[in-house]
Amino acid sequence: MEKIPALVLAVVAVLGTGACRGAPVVAPAPMSAPVAHRIIPAPASIMLAEADSFAITAATAIRVEAGSARVGEQLAEMLRTPTGFPVPVSAAGGSISLELTGAETLGEEGYELRITRDSVALVAHRAAGLFRGVQTLRQMLPPRIEAEESVQSRLPWKIPAGVIRDRPRFAWRGAMLDVARHFFTVQDVKQYIDAIALYKINVLHLHLSDDQGWRIEIASRPRLTQLGGSTQVGGGPGGFYTQREYAEIVRYAADRHITVVPEIDLPGHTNAALVAYPELSCGKQAPALYTGIRVGFSALCPGNEETYRLVDDVVRELAAITPGPYIHVGGDEVEALTPADYARFIERVQEIVTRHGKRMIGWEEVAKGRLRPSTIVQQWRSDSAAAAAVRQGVKLILSPASRAYLDMRYTRGTMLGLNWAGFVEVRDAYGWDPASFFPGVTEADVIGVEAPLWSETVKNMTAVQFMAFPRLPAIAEIGWSPAAAKDWESFRVRLAAQAPRWEMMGVNFHRSPQIPWP
Ligand code: ACM
Repeated sequence: MEKIPALVLAVVAVLGTGACRGAPVVAPAPMSAPVAHRIIPAPASIMLAEADSFAITAATAIRVEAGSARVGEQLAEMLRTPTGFPVPVSAAGGSISLELTGAETLGEEGYELRITRDSVALVAHRAAGLFRGVQTLRQMLPPRIEAEESVQSRLPWKIPAGVIRDRPRFAWRGAMLDVARHFFTVQDVKQYIDAIALYKINVLHLHLSDDQGWRIEIASRPRLTQLGGSTQVGGGPGGFYTQREYAEIVRYAADRHITVVPEIDLPGHTNAALVAYPELSCGKQAPALYTGIRVGFSALCPGNEETYRLVDDVVRELAAITPGPYIHVGGDEVEALTPADYARFIERVQEIVTRHGKRMIGWEEVAKGRLRPSTIVQQWRSDSAAAAAVRQGVKLILSPASRAYLDMRYTRGTMLGLNWAGFVEVRDAYGWDPASFFPGVTEADVIGVEAPLWSETVKNMTAVQFMAFPRLPAIAEIGWSPAAAKDWESFRVRLAAQAPRWEMMGVNFHRSPQIPWP
């Protein structure tokens, strides 16, 4: 796959500033941001005494109990490499303790951190909460904690004393990666998982099929990947995940308390499937492989029983390798079917997903069918579709393209991305609230937010990172932090503090002129 050289991306960053329209809006860079000014998403409650601190030293050890051993080991791994300290993990003792208590008020992902000069106590109700708390600790440590080799120096590794009590506003904080328009390897996906985990994202939605490519092995339908996986936008070699590779992604994500949601886009966006099984199209003519980016032209034939046998095979195999409760069936942008045929198709697919023990998710168009209360609708384009879904009594994931689509260009000058939903600078991505964005949609209707990254123009991880950072942390904060904590001035300072961390991690990012980068 073609790599975008760093130099070109530096130019992208400069062009993206809109500097040609006047002086960029840059406040003085914070020389040394106080620790509270580094944490994204902002914690629900934070009281730090920066004058006092806990230091990680050669003597630091981590105390765990049965349910916290894995997170303890993850914390130790995070500390060992850059510090060069041994950081043993055991049930015996240690100045850092990871405790699972009966603190049910902390919920599925909440945690409490109590930091004194002598100890760090991280307490949660679930291991997921401990893992989220470790991400907070990670951000409280200096950026060199991200170094991939020992950078041990006489400078101490300090965490300010204080108390943080934190839990998410929304249960669903997702990131979607389109691996269909351009294929991304297992290693690429793991790298993305690592970057999103830092911001407490808990769902990775993989867009596994589209007109240009079918990316997941279905053993009973081998031609889907043999033929349908053989190319991508622009005509590259494409690729696909074997079921074993997919399981490895799921395992890697689960280890970071991230649920994988697989999407097979139906009944449109199916040209690659129709190349493999042309008998499923109403025309029954085998289409050619497609490497362009136009949408809407393809559809499985809704009047053909063979269509539902294929959907059943796909959903059955996908459900068997997906421990998470959801299967996303797409449903967007179908221009080739009548509204009645479309609605009947969605309703039958909903029954298939239910029969295989999963909850269906679909893009907003699926609300044209009759939905089960357990189905979830992912809003992306229209506010009336969101309100229509709510009237059916289903819950929403909000991904408004004009705010949350990471493939939209930042400005006119951005050389990657599309702009059909407008230009989305960091402040646009941050400046909306799920409880008030759509008429007829209240906080109780929303299970959370998701930032999709479509890959028509995004060919490699350097480009993925450039589009995701810094907008993904903005969506992560909208999903996690209490509405009252939302503050653009605070956010832009905290975002600026991520830059040295991303540089240490090798994560490319857009140097938005809205942010006072150091
Ligand atoms: C979409 O962007 N077509 C869901």
